[in-house]
Amino acid sequence: MKSPPPFPSGWYALGFSEDLRAGMVVARKFMGREVVLFRTESGKLCVAASYCPHLGANLGKGGSICGEFLRCPFHGFTYGVNGECTSTPYGRPPPAARLDLLEAVEVSGVIIAYHHPAGTPAEWQVEPPPEDEFTWGPRRTKTWTFPGHPQETMENSIDVGHFLVTHRLQDPQVLQPLTTEGPRMSAMYAFRRPLPLLQRGVLMKLFTSSNGLGFSCHNLSVPQLGWETRLLVLPTPLDEVNMEFRTVFMGRMIPGVNRQTLTAALKTRFGAAPVELAMMQYILFEIRRDIAIFRHKRYLPRPALGREDRQIGQYRVWASQFYPSSRG
Ligand code: FES
Ligand SMILES: [Fe+2]
Repeated sequence: MKSPPPFPSGWYALGFSEDLRAGMVVARKFMGREVVLFRTESGKLCVAASYCPHLGANLGKGGSICGEFLRCPFHGFTYGVNGECTSTPYGRPPPAARLDLLEAVEVSGVIIAYHHPAGTPAEWQVEPPPEDEFTWGPRRTKTWTFPGHPQETMENSIDVGHFLVTHRLQDPQVLQPLTTEGPRMSAMYAFRRPLPLLQRGVLMKLFTSSNGLGFSCHNLSVPQLGWETRLLVLPTPLDEVNMEFRTVFMGRMIPGVNRQTLTAALKTRFGAAPVELAMMQYILFEIRRDIAIFRHKRYLPRPALGREDRQIGQYRVWASQFYPSSRG
């Protein structure tokens, strides 16, 4: 088996809120389907299967917003955010003309939609990341597309062994063992990052939390720098092989840390930008190291795990809940 079953249930990202402004219509691939995202003039979000129920035009290719409605480019039928056909240019809307809607919401500036193989309503919601309400620096985003699966990329966040080799970290400590509760999972680790001029390197703490396989939040703090980076990792299956791997970066001074840090001095002089950008570049570099592995790896349903890998077995038991009719 090259991958787990391709479309696990749960909430998955379809884009960033800022990329879908009022009046916009966007086409996306999602779980082997074509979907259309639109935002009405008043700002209401809607996600639906792309094909117009009238005669099958792709609403994401030429559909337009008229006030609170999406207008099909083929015969001009209009649809509201509840899926109903509200008008046609020639007569009453046919009763069967209804959009096939996906449940969609926005969390932390990310548009997410729910997928279940049986099409059943969402049984749980994504909880906004902890401390979402606090002030973070500007959001920066980066998206990759590559062959992969969200279960595999999410597994990476609790795979302690790979941090030591792929990411060249040292002295791993488990500050919070992998903890699961329903569709949620969290863990906390600390590592030492060797640096050329600092013999002891710097301590890094990583708190990782996931809502299912499609929405995870990672806080990487470096107390010696007084800096913390929040990284959202949002893998979404496009089809049976490829996925979109969206990331969101935000940074801030760690609340309450010693103001005498280098970061504080740089912030006074230049604003937060130098440390913020350096941390983002560092994390991007490390993500590319992961992606180089993901592109070519193979999923092993029965991996040869060592004693120190036991959290991977625990993770896979947790992940199996997202395959309602099959085993993960
Ligand atoms: S196909 Fe959309 S209105 Fe006819
Ligand atoms: Fe990694």
